[in-house]
Amino acid sequence: MVLGALELPNRIWMAPLTRCRAEDGHVPGPLMAEYYAQRASAGLIIAEATMAMEGHSAFWHEPGIHSQAQLEGWRLTTEAVHRAGGRIVLQIWHGGRACHPLLNGGRVPVAPSPIAISGDEVHTPEGKQPYVVPRELGDDEIPAIVEGFRLAARNAMAAGFDGVEVHGANGYLLDEFLRDGSNHRSGPYGGPIAHRARLLLEVLEAVAGEAPLMGLRLSPLNSYNAMADSDPIGLITWLARRLNDLPLAYLHLMRGDLLGRQQGDVLSPAREHYRGVLVSNMGYDASEAEAAIAAGGVDAVAFGTAFLANPDLPERFRRGAPLTPPIRPPSTAPGRRGTPTTPALRRPEGRAQVSVSQQNCRAATAMRASCTSGPRPLHRSTSRPRGLSPWRDSVWMSSTCGRVSQLAITNTLSERRCGLLRSSPSRWGLSSGSSSRLLKSAKAGSSLRTAISFWIWLNRACSTVPGCFLRSARSQSNRPRRNQRLSSRLLGSSW
Ligand SMILES: Cc1cc2nc3c(=O)[nH]c(=O)nc-3n(C[C@H](O)[C@H](O)[C@H](O)COP(=O)(O)O)c2cc1C
Repeated sequence: MVLGALELPNRIWMAPLTRCRAEDGHVPGPLMAEYYAQRASAGLIIAEATMAMEGHSAFWHEPGIHSQAQLEGWRLTTEAVHRAGGRIVLQIWHGGRACHPLLNGGRVPVAPSPIAISGDEVHTPEGKQPYVVPRELGDDEIPAIVEGFRLAARNAMAAGFDGVEVHGANGYLLDEFLRDGSNHRSGPYGGPIAHRARLLLEVLEAVAGEAPLMGLRLSPLNSYNAMADSDPIGLITWLARRLNDLPLAYLHLMRGDLLGRQQGDVLSPAREHYRGVLVSNMGYDASEAEAAIAAGGVDAVAFGTAFLANPDLPERFRRGAPLTPPIRPPSTAPGRRGTPTTPALRRPEGRAQVSVSQQNCRAATAMRASCTSGPRPLHRSTSRPRGLSPWRDSVWMSSTCGRVSQLAITNTLSERRCGLLRSSPSRWGLSSGSSSRLLKSAKAGSSLRTAISFWIWLNRACSTVPGCFLRSARSQSNRPRRNQRLSSRLLGSSW
């Protein structure tokens, strides 16, 4: 698929996902570069909502693109993604009424109308707080907002992005202007759709002058951030027609409501009236995405949460491999916790797999440091035990914290061979709790007792840790692979 000057290897895009992993000053660091590079096989990565201008933080530690330091920080990411063969655009954003004074040096947020977000709270350094009533933006302040987006687009291109996506969705400033539930103003920026869309269109025109590849994300149905509109279908129809006049590379539509409150079909009118590349998102699996593309309803599908726990999502779709379930709710707490997430699929298919959530990943992360050599059996016995059928399968452990298959009992107990993958026993001491003890005892003997206690430990881990699953290699390899019959549409012609 061709998008502007980019050739995309597949139609599996990565949706923007706020991770709150930026360093002080909203500066993206090496951790973010590592995270995005892991996902370079996406047809297109849309990097997370990024502050277009200073003073409108709506999360904690989200990145910005308005300072030189931020620009340099993002360069780490763009270079890493390009080195890994990927393509990446930046979602540029103004948080509007979702911002909070505690995140912005006391500054009161701005919005089209002084209406606070109700029914939710925002994370701040002082804990969760209710949203505040925003200050109504004056018409004379709008040019500064447009200029902020323009400069953000310029900075994004200077940082090495392949383009930008304007964030017009999810109840942030541009969306607040679009929808009449949050826009009660009169004058040039309020009232009929043509007025409510004026700010968005001005921003798009300004950004187009800076970014050769510009996308737009909309979510006319999404009620997240207490959003509503009296006529979402009318809104998307009007916008879809009007967007044909702009040099838009793609329209990225969230097809539903994250909170499930508002129903409707916004995709059909968008397809009918917008003549450019249409990308849909929300709740797709590979089969549905493939069917939607094959039927001509959309040109590509963006996957959100699936990419959090499956950095190599296109490869998993191609192989029909199981997806690691995402941690729920996905963490956006500051710091390294939970990022990068699950390792890429490296092992041969058909191996049993245990995923353990973030809580258990400290040990796994420590182990990863030693993962340099190949599998090494710790013990091999010539005598063959009897009646150990559960152990015919290999058992692998991986972690949603993102670090390789750290430990494994490889091969089979029926062959009396119990080993640790890439073991470096001295390092196991870094790991914690039962896994550490188990690993030590496994190293010492690989007895049946060891194997059984490991098995019990795995099962306990899986029963107590949300998002953890344990599969037998045998049953998995026999299972029909639903994703594997995908035609080449979703995966691209190279596959
Ligand atoms: C943790 C998290 C962070 C998100 N951050 C953003 C964001 O920065 N910008 C945005 O437009 N949408 C954001 N979204 C919405 C996702 O892009 C996507 O629309 C949503 O996850 C639904 O798609 P899915 O069903 O494929 O997960 C976020 C969602 C999650 C779960």
